[in-house]
Amino acid sequence: MDRPYIVLHLLSSLDSRIDGSFFSSAETAKAFSINQKIRSSYECEAVLNGAVTAAEIYADGFINELRHSDEHFDRNDYIAEKCDNYVVCVDIQGSLNWTKNYVERRNMPYSHVIEVLCEDVNDDYIAYLRSLNISYVFAGKENLDLRLLMKKLKELFDIRTLMVTGGGVMDYSLLEQGCLDEISLVVAPTVGGEREVATIFDRSLYSVSDHSFDLKLNRVERFDDVLYLNYLVK
Ligand SMILES: NC(=O)c1ccc[n+]([C@@H]2O[C@H](COP(=O)([O-])OP(=O)(O)OC[C@H]3O[C@@H](n4cnc5c(N)ncnc54)[C@H](OP(=O)(O)O)[C@@H]3O)[C@@H](O)[C@H]2O)c1
Repeated sequence: MDRPYIVLHLLSSLDSRIDGSFFSSAETAKAFSINQKIRSSYECEAVLNGAVTAAEIYADGFINELRHSDEHFDRNDYIAEKCDNYVVCVDIQGSLNWTKNYVERRNMPYSHVIEVLCEDVNDDYIAYLRSLNISYVFAGKENLDLRLLMKKLKELFDIRTLMVTGGGVMDYSLLEQGCLDEISLVVAPTVGGEREVATIFDRSLYSVSDHSFDLKLNRVERFDDVLYLNYLVK
């Protein structure tokens, strides 16, 4: 394959919510440790997130004010560091606020940050990434080309297995662009029910397809009341 093997791994409520009130339930706390164990078992070289999830979990929110730079940058990919693990953030217009070029968290190895941009991003944001020594790759002129991104992640960073960890908008984009091989889902026995909360797959303004996608059930496991579902994408 000219791209990594791509697995989407998530913890959801029974009603497919991936955020909101279900996260504070005691049942979800039990499911969380199962989720972590399964997540680690994949031994992926990288995790990939949409900008909203990245702002919440890995970056320091969104940037408020960008310092002006007089420099112009050719739209060439920039590899600041090569290491064993990466956090890849899809942020096509450059909106994430960083204080360092790596992520270190509990249950996660040291991971270098790779920003995914489109070529029409502002030069000021590229200058900002350079100042922090953050790697970036271009995946499309104005619209995100996920297949091109995946090819580059393998070629430039030697990422062979990639774990997608949300959110719903990102997950749907990957599914519709043929960039998911497997879906690994831990389901907590809890219902959140909020309408406005992200779900496993959410169509968005970025979406181009309006049909459903068929899956093949690969594995089912039960951990007391917690369910593990594993599907292969057809
Ligand atoms: N339960 C779990 O395991 C889990 C895991 C992860 C996240 N979450 C939750 O999921 C929620 C966030 O999900 P979300 O769906 O709102 O956001 P998301 O998928 O994290 O990020 C969406 C953003 O990613 C960029 N993006 C995604 N697809 C794109 C495309 N095709 N073209 C261009 N840009 C694209 C866009 O950024 P721009 O619009 O900025 O360009 C888009 O707004 C949070 O509440 C988080 O807590 C839960």
